[in-house]
Amino acid sequence: MFVLGIETSCDETAVAVVKDGREVLSNVVFSQVQEHAPFKGVVPEIASRNHLRKIVPVCDEALRKAGISLAQVDGIAVTMGPGLIGSLLVGVQFAKALSFALSKPIVGVHHLEAHWFAIFLTPAPPSFPFVALVASGGHTHLYEVRAVGDATLLGQTLDDAAGEAFDKAASLLSLPYPGGVHIQKTAQGHNPNAIRFPRGMSKSDSLNFSFSGMKTALKRYLQEQGETAQEKLGEIAASFQEAIVDCLVEKAISAAKGTKKLVLAGGVAANQRLRERLALACKNAGIEFFPVPLEFCTDNGAMVAGLGYHYLSCEMRPSKWCKYGLDIDAMDGWVV
Ligand code: KG4
Ligand code: ZN
Repeated sequence: MFVLGIETSCDETAVAVVKDGREVLSNVVFSQVQEHAPFKGVVPEIASRNHLRKIVPVCDEALRKAGISLAQVDGIAVTMGPGLIGSLLVGVQFAKALSFALSKPIVGVHHLEAHWFAIFLTPAPPSFPFVALVASGGHTHLYEVRAVGDATLLGQTLDDAAGEAFDKAASLLSLPYPGGVHIQKTAQGHNPNAIRFPRGMSKSDSLNFSFSGMKTALKRYLQEQGETAQEKLGEIAASFQEAIVDCLVEKAISAAKGTKKLVLAGGVAANQRLRERLALACKNAGIEFFPVPLEFCTDNGAMVAGLGYHYLSCEMRPSKWCKYGLDIDAMDGWVV
């Protein structure tokens, strides 16, 4: 079964073809980073205009790379939300038009479920149940996942998302946008314990996160240091990264104590320090660790197609995590 997966929830125009929910035949991502970089953040109107410009060529390329024609597509999966409304509308409307024209079934999926479902694109995915940490530019959420379309929220950020904290810190340090990967590069080889930034919620039993205090502390530190801060850029980046990683590791390990399995997903899951620290912490706590491969961490169509297969290949699965048919709509603030 060939499923076409369409993802346009933020600033990546992405389309993929996945066979039988496992085999990624193509995964084309047009990143709009260059368009948004001058503004140091995603500009919603620019994002939707670029999706509109790119969705057809990206889809054509995904089909060409997969070596199949549109007529061979068996089903369509699209991210229905949450995300930027103008961006979502482009993907959803495009997917509906394809479904109508090809008379093929369509399912609208949840962006976060797609993120953790990317682990099923790997040769040895976990069995259910497991805990998923999804850390991205818009989300820092912990879920207990019991099956396809069955997951419970355990904790989430109360303010900034982890990726947002990385991006805002990068901006304060005059590093390019999006900042996560640049903080990681700047931090490389520097002392992560040089400066002690606050760890929000670390003394609390709850599984929620808070990153805004960390960002304020960095701002204050930079003001105090003045021009000398530039000489310590490496250790500032390493210490800030460590503070975020500490919070993510602590809560993820507490959350996964029951299921003994942890999936790490979302754009921030690409962070090397986080992957290393979580691997070690899981080993020490007897938890099996399943990091999503780097190519499927940031937004992509393969994770949507992979998840879509599980909904489309069985009888219509009633779930609050998806919707079927041509009356699906973009749901920007979709919370499950
Ligand atoms: O999942 P994603 O592509 O989009 C959203 O759904 O938000 O995540 C993008 C986020 C950005 O904030 C970016 O800075 C962060 O993921 N990110 C990283 C790294 N690569 C991407 N953060 C830390 N380290 C990285 N290597
Ligand atoms: Zn995402």
